[in-house]
Amino acid sequence: MKQLETRDDVEFLVNKFYEKVGADKTIGFFFNDVAKVNWDLHLPKMYGFWESLLFGSASYKGNPMRAHFPINEMQAMEKHHFEQWLKLWIKTLEEHFEGEMAEAAKTKASNIANLMAHKMKMARR
Ligand code: HEM
Repeated sequence: MKQLETRDDVEFLVNKFYEKVGADKTIGFFFNDVAKVNWDLHLPKMYGFWESLLFGSASYKGNPMRAHFPINEMQAMEKHHFEQWLKLWIKTLEEHFEGEMAEAAKTKASNIANLMAHKMKMARR
């Protein structure tokens, strides 16, 4: 088990996470069928996002919430989807990393997932 401390660690974590996500029965279809994600573009964005969030590196410039509204319009993103997303994120972290930064990655993901679930629900009213 190792500490989560470098850009390489973040890339490894994100790759492992989206391997699980893409194959997941509950949320995989959002990426594969609804958004038809270009992984070659999505993964580097997510490396930057997490690097910025954890290490304050400013490598992500974007709006993480905004990207999800059009997906939510095509296919409702509901609470149980976010719960599954978070479960996979925590599982991936616990399989590979320990320590303060790994814990921060869980807390930050949980906060954003909860906020996002709320915003998606409000947008569907
Ligand atoms: C069920 C939950 C979720 C689903 C199905 C989902 C799905 C997606 C999809 C399909 C994209 C667009 C990919 C593309 O076409 O390029 C995306 C982008 C993104 N997602 Fe999620 N997402 C979920 C939760 C989250 C959470 C909880 C976070 C943050 C902790 C997050 C962070 C991001 C970011 C940063 C982007 C890139 C936005 C940009 O274009 O700058 N997502 N997501």
